[in-house]
Amino acid sequence: MKFFVDTADVDAIRELNDLGMVDGVTTNPSLILKSGRDIIEVTKEICGIVSGPVSAEVVALTADEMIAEGRKLAEIAPNIAVKVPLTWDGLKTCKVLSGEGHMVNVTLCFSANQALLAAKAGATFISPFIGRLDDINLDGLDLIADIRTIYDNYGFETQILAASIRTANHVTQCALIGADVMTAPPSVIKALAGHVLTDKGLDQFMKDWAKTGQKIL
Ligand code: G3P
Repeated sequence: MKFFVDTADVDAIRELNDLGMVDGVTTNPSLILKSGRDIIEVTKEICGIVSGPVSAEVVALTADEMIAEGRKLAEIAPNIAVKVPLTWDGLKTCKVLSGEGHMVNVTLCFSANQALLAAKAGATFISPFIGRLDDINLDGLDLIADIRTIYDNYGFETQILAASIRTANHVTQCALIGADVMTAPPSVIKALAGHVLTDKGLDQFMKDWAKTGQKIL
């Protein structure tokens, strides 16, 4: 499963990328706001750090305007994936931009039928939001499993990009289900390294090592 990092924080991206943990980046208008930076400028910087797909989201609501914005975003770098919302106009935009050879990430997906439409419109990535479904007492992971089954039934090549990941368990379950990609904030990716028994074991090793009175260096 590929790891995308869900942030526009270039320092965090650089740190994870240096460790080989970043196969791509996803951003959205809320993350651009959080970065406090200009969308074109920060996206260009991210594309210079990461060689994989970098999603940059359009903000228009009509297809004609989304297509124009998408073309402008795609000019930033060859690894831009234009992110469009799962609306009828977003699907029209997906069809046009993917037909022009651009990568397209269709976002804000909350149902299997929406994912089916995105695949038929030529999406490179579909972004089902797990955490936000969990927030309203639905099971976001069920949606990932349903989309996996449907795409496999018909051989759709659209990649399932599990988004709105909030927990380590979301990551494990997405990998077990067979999501192609997961995108998570840097804090969630870092938390994957943690385990209470690792901490406990290391603590014991340090105590025993101190008793040996030895040094390695
Ligand atoms: O990239 C969009 C998605 O990952 C948002 O996550 O936590 O704001 O629902 P969240």
